[in-house]
Amino acid sequence: MNQGFWKKLKEKSKKQKRPILALAPMANVTDAAFRRMFVKYGKPDVIWTEFVSCDGLCSEGKEKLMLDLIFHKSEKPIVAHFFGAKPENFYKCAKLAKEMGFDGIDINMGCPDRGVLRQGAGSALILKPKLAQKIIKETMRGAGKLPVSVKTRIGFNEIEFKKWIPNLLKMNLAALTIHGRTKKEMSDVPAHWDIIGEVVKMRNKMKLKTLIIGNGDVVSLADAREKYENYGVDGVMVGRGVFGTPWFFNPKRKNVSLKTRLKMALEHTKLFEKIFGDKKHFDIIKKHYKAYVSGFDNAKKIRMKLMTVKTLKKAKKTLSGLISKR
Ligand SMILES: Cc1cc2nc3c(=O)[nH]c(=O)nc-3n(C[C@H](O)[C@H](O)[C@H](O)COP(=O)(O)O)c2cc1C
Repeated sequence: MNQGFWKKLKEKSKKQKRPILALAPMANVTDAAFRRMFVKYGKPDVIWTEFVSCDGLCSEGKEKLMLDLIFHKSEKPIVAHFFGAKPENFYKCAKLAKEMGFDGIDINMGCPDRGVLRQGAGSALILKPKLAQKIIKETMRGAGKLPVSVKTRIGFNEIEFKKWIPNLLKMNLAALTIHGRTKKEMSDVPAHWDIIGEVVKMRNKMKLKTLIIGNGDVVSLADAREKYENYGVDGVMVGRGVFGTPWFFNPKRKNVSLKTRLKMALEHTKLFEKIFGDKKHFDIIKKHYKAYVSGFDNAKKIRMKLMTVKTLKKAKKTLSGLISKR
């Protein structure tokens, strides 16, 4: 098994008696601008890109998708996160990720999106364990020395981790992220952390080095630590809990004023413009404004004002105006 950067992270977390902290992949959220804000205000131990289609990367549409693979060396260690159902394309994308300087490669086997399922990808692979294994094998072949990991759910329609997870563990992955819900459960029920704990026991029984990263509903660093202590996971991945809070992984930063949040929203906007120009849709950055200004008196009024903005230029002007009034 190629453990790569994961080995160091494990040693560090063991020494500090805390989980490896991971920023979850979130399509149209965790782009390079968003991630760079985390690097500055509270860097997690490891970062994932958004998921990128392997088929797309192996087609004429490649150039547009390459925007989702942009990263800066300050984000390292960073994992390229791919979805698809064709082993041969995973081989090619793993090679691409290696050439681009990524630190690891992660395969999506959990996405419940209909468009992704139609391609036989994401959580559809839970129903096709042999194909899932072939994809892992080809990814490993293309990855060379880079560590390969998988992110999945605990079942498709039912909780069937006892049947599904051994297929993955047998492949000697460097890490396995378990989102503690089935595909059918989407994000509608609380994550089954007890099942994530069972996966840890399964890994221990198989005497494997594969790191288990638990995922689902974590809202604070204290919460992540509680999961680490109670369920024995090596790491904790946080998704929605980080919205609008680039300082989430910073243990020292607590109360952040509305003015500071607005300044961060402006900084985020400028980064987005610098990295993507007009190549990504303005709506992508606009979504973040809501998260930046929630939880304050008169936040609603400010949000409404920001929601009327339609261009990067106008957003920068509006945010600057709001900052100067505070
Ligand atoms: C907007 C959004 C986009 C997501 N995109 C991806 C993705 O590209 N790949 C993936 O594996 N999971 C994706 N997820 C799932 C998250 O990575 C995570 O597994 C899920 O949100 C549960 O964690 P949380 O409760 O901490 O948010 C996405 C979730 C959200 C909310």
